[in-house]
Amino acid sequence: MASPAAGLVVIVGSGLIGRSWAMLFASGGFKVKLYDIEQQQITNALENIRKEIKLLEQLGALKGTLSAEQQLSLITGCSNIQEAVEGAMHIQECVPENLEVKKEIFAQLDGIVGDDVVLSSSTSCLLPSRLFSGMAHVKQCVVAHPVNPPYYVPLVELVPHPETAPATVDRTHALMQKIGQSPVRVLKEVDGFALNRLQYAVIGEAWRLVQDGIVSPSDLDLVMSDGLGLRYAFMGPLETMHLNAEGMLSYCNRYGEGMKRVLKTFGPIPEFSGATVEKVHQAMCAKVPDDPEHLAARRQWRDACLMRLARLKSQMPSQ
Ligand code: NAI
Repeated sequence: MASPAAGLVVIVGSGLIGRSWAMLFASGGFKVKLYDIEQQQITNALENIRKEIKLLEQLGALKGTLSAEQQLSLITGCSNIQEAVEGAMHIQECVPENLEVKKEIFAQLDGIVGDDVVLSSSTSCLLPSRLFSGMAHVKQCVVAHPVNPPYYVPLVELVPHPETAPATVDRTHALMQKIGQSPVRVLKEVDGFALNRLQYAVIGEAWRLVQDGIVSPSDLDLVMSDGLGLRYAFMGPLETMHLNAEGMLSYCNRYGEGMKRVLKTFGPIPEFSGATVEKVHQAMCAKVPDDPEHLAARRQWRDACLMRLARLKSQMPSQ
């Protein structure tokens, strides 16, 4: 674990993702300053984080080796960006997914930071070349894209700008590991990075299968939650191939032609509208009505499952 003296991390934007990052960095022993354009958001974030961290401690699910109070003492709010970034080693931007808003923040940071700090964006889908081009500190910039909810889903995609210094990515990779996250390097920027490209490939085919009347929406979800998803929580599709035959070469030998045959039958990009969206919407609402209370309750259930899964994964020997 890092000692608090090891560094200060600044979170710019204290919404859903900013709060999660704050908790993760504090769990690793880092001092955290939460900044937001709205003072009320900082106040709400500090209150919400206090509740969450206390609850996690009660449930025995608090990350790191520090107590809840020790972690809470590391997190403070600051409503002045210049003061907030003073002495920071890492700045994690978490403002809304809007190119202009993010560019404005990075231009502001560019003018006030030194040469030692990493400037990192949580963006889900804005390319680093659009976010960071023209910045004086572009070498220090990187995208660190978390997955919701980041406290239980540790993956972080690191995506450099073409001019990002390799040391910036290395430093961010090491930092993410220090706070218990699981960083991956996306070596060249590409729309959707890696996670959303995979996710959209799955969504696209799920949609076509329902649209073509091959399976019902609820059965489609079961194919993942009681089928593919079970092993994917522990190993990826490539290792799955490796184990489902006598190694990768044997798998491609046995199943390559079949995979190509099926892949050729994949249809066009769905419109995500019209009769199919009505059908899927109805099926989803029959299971979870789309009012705020039902959605929130189901999200809570999902997070509780993810918390247990995270515990199971940490208890399993990695071999
Ligand atoms: P949010 O809307 O919950 O929070 C955004 C915060 O930024 C608000 O507190 C707002 O007051 C603040 N803000 C707005 N303008 C600002 C400015 N100029 N300076 C400082 N603060 C400002 O948004 P959320 O969901 O936390 O998303 C943040 C980023 O994380 C987005 O880029 C999003 O794409 C990314 N992300 C979100 C995920 C999600 O599931 N919500 C998952 C992974 C990444």
